[in-house]
Amino acid sequence: MTGYLMEDSREAQRLADKVDPEAWVRRYLVPLDLNNKRILDVGCGPAVIAAELGRQFETATVVGIDASPQRIEAAHANIVDAPNVSVQIGDAHALPFEDESFDFVVCRFLMEYLPDKALAVQEMKRVLKPGGRLFLQDLDGQLVWHYPIDQSLQDGVEKALKLLEKSGFDPMVGRKLFHLCHAAGFESLDVNIDPYHLIAGPIDAENLALWKTKLEIATQNLTNMPEFKDTAAAISQRFLNYLDRDDSLTYSVLFSVLATKPR
Ligand SMILES: C[S@@+](CC[C@H](N)C(=O)[O-])C[C@H]1O[C@@H](n2cnc3c(N)ncnc32)[C@H](O)[C@@H]1O
Repeated sequence: MTGYLMEDSREAQRLADKVDPEAWVRRYLVPLDLNNKRILDVGCGPAVIAAELGRQFETATVVGIDASPQRIEAAHANIVDAPNVSVQIGDAHALPFEDESFDFVVCRFLMEYLPDKALAVQEMKRVLKPGGRLFLQDLDGQLVWHYPIDQSLQDGVEKALKLLEKSGFDPMVGRKLFHLCHAAGFESLDVNIDPYHLIAGPIDAENLALWKTKLEIATQNLTNMPEFKDTAAAISQRFLNYLDRDDSLTYSVLFSVLATKPR
């Protein structure tokens, strides 16, 4: 596949390490009671969440889709014990499913990367049955919200983000999920917000390792851009140093939108 900013052989493991699927499903989806439903996870990554959905909702059928063959290979290994879960390769902009074939669509941390977010939301709506629900979740403010400002770091990050805009990457996509669902014709929109990153003072070793891998992958892909060939590694190191300062605070928030397709 092409175009995904974080494409890398380490990505499936990085994604799996970043989430506690049992806690996530319990917090966000168990209250929605998805038993007996056909569920689609768009941009499922290594499918640790899809596998957990299969375990929590034994009478549901769960399908995970991801554009990356590497992610889907990892996903196959993660769903071996979940007979009601399957995964396949596919693009969120052109979902390979018939109209009205799912009761529930979940999409976590994909919208921030997609070139055509409105088209993807339309696709999710198309494959939902009337009355079916969409759960979209994404970040707002990651990489950009810090205090005190390190101007050189901020300038470097903002320059990189400006260029990445063309690929669809949007660190402020969280606040836009509501509007995307509204524009697509969903109704009964329910929006929630949670804290996500919150690093005050020196970052702990586990999270530093996750950020290091994330920035290494992004940097390696950024160095393909002539504008960043020489500076990407330095910006990345400056970012890691910033996270390790005694006096620095970094944060982002998590938006969740639950939306219903009209009957
Ligand atoms: C940040 S990961 C999120 C994975 C998972 N949803 C989670 O919450 O851990 C984004 C995933 O979207 C996939 N992806 C990127 N572009 C895609 C597209 N156009 N269609 C489907 N999947 C895509 C990537 O391969 C990656 O696995």
